[in-house]
Amino acid sequence: MFFSMIKARRSIRQFLSKPVEPDKIDILMEAALRSPSSRGYNPWEFILVQDKAMLEQLAACKPHGATFLKNAPLGIVVVADPKVCDVWVEDTSIAATYIQLAAESMALKTCWIQVRKRDYKEGQSASERVAELLRIPSHLEVACIIAVGYPAESLPGHTRDTLNFNKIHDGIYGKIRPS
Ligand SMILES: Cc1cc2nc3c(=O)[nH]c(=O)nc-3n(C[C@H](O)[C@H](O)[C@H](O)COP(=O)(O)O)c2cc1C
Repeated sequence: MFFSMIKARRSIRQFLSKPVEPDKIDILMEAALRSPSSRGYNPWEFILVQDKAMLEQLAACKPHGATFLKNAPLGIVVVADPKVCDVWVEDTSIAATYIQLAAESMALKTCWIQVRKRDYKEGQSASERVAELLRIPSHLEVACIIAVGYPAESLPGHTRDTLNFNKIHDGIYGKIRPS
């Protein structure tokens, strides 16, 4: 069941205008809060954005790779306090992935928008721009935004023959695993 879901999973960037139901948003957020984090420090927080004008502004937080957010009904901004945990990048990535997989399980589709280490414009990072728009306190870093919604496009799951099984090593690096 879980495996067939991840076999069909793709990043989706075109969404119907249909809003995500509040009970489904509850499940997405509960999934995030259930994600494992280093030492259980849970350094992350999540900002749910459904306001169209705000989504449009967030879609311009970097020059490329975020514009589709303006047509998504929901953006989940994942932030963390680096002082709470030194491996907050890993923690936020796992939480974001939990959100994506929980969405898949409810026929919702998602796409990750990278914010950390991206620029809005010269002299201002994408993280600073998102923080400015959403009044995020300065001790928090923005990791990513997960666009969520019902799909307006359909992409096939990656076929098995396109997977790089040569990235898997058996016992020692470079030893091919017998099939
Ligand atoms: C860490 C990370 C950052 C990503 N950043 C972006 C992004 O900024 N914009 C975007 O459109 N897609 C982004 N993606 C989605 C990838 O482009 C996508 O997962 C990849 O092309 C493989 O396609 P698939 O998810 O459909 O299998 C990101 C994915 C990950 C895991």
